[in-house]
Amino acid sequence: MEIRTVGWGSLLMAKSLELRKAVFVSEQSVPPELEIDEMDEAAIHFLLLLEGEVAATLRLLPQDNCVKIGRVAVRRELRSTGLGTELMKAALAHALRAGFPEAILDAQLDSIPFYEKLGFSAEGEIFMDAGIPHRGMRLKLA
Ligand SMILES: CC(C)(COP(=O)(O)OP(=O)(O)OC[C@H]1O[C@@H](n2cnc3c(N)ncnc32)[C@H](O)[C@@H]1OP(=O)(O)O)[C@@H](O)C(=O)NCCC(=O)NCCS
Repeated sequence: MEIRTVGWGSLLMAKSLELRKAVFVSEQSVPPELEIDEMDEAAIHFLLLLEGEVAATLRLLPQDNCVKIGRVAVRRELRSTGLGTELMKAALAHALRAGFPEAILDAQLDSIPFYEKLGFSAEGEIFMDAGIPHRGMRLKLA
């Protein structure tokens, strides 16, 4: 297993976008025009590779004084094996080293227990994004 960042426009980034499309557009019916957005080019993209293939992906975006985590996706057949947790821990460690005091994210309601196990707390009202109910979550890093 290898966890690394990857540059926009690289072959691995293209494979990561294929995984995001399979998960968010095909599985979850998110409109394709919303899945890749104008923030992607500026984001830090983290990948988890298994035997050279992209098994999980997420992105980090500086937002105000925080880092915002998004597009967290694990290949369907590899879920519930700890890969999402490993990738999140690596991204959170990176954010801490980079000096961000807090991480935030918008969690699909079904995924809240996954983020709670990483220490995040839900806050605020439920809201809809791309037709899916979400709630904001926050974790103090320092
Ligand atoms: C949510 C997701 C990223 C979790 O990744 P994962 O690799 O399957 O999670 P892990 O195996 O590291 O799970 C860690 C813990 O969270 C729990 N968990 C994971 N997904 C969960 C879910 N959807 N609901 C409840 N608990 C969940 C697991 O049971 C596990 O707990 P345990 O260690 O006590 O067994 C993955 O399921 C996924 O890609 N889902 C589809 C895309 C998605 O919805 N992304 C989130 C958008 S906000």
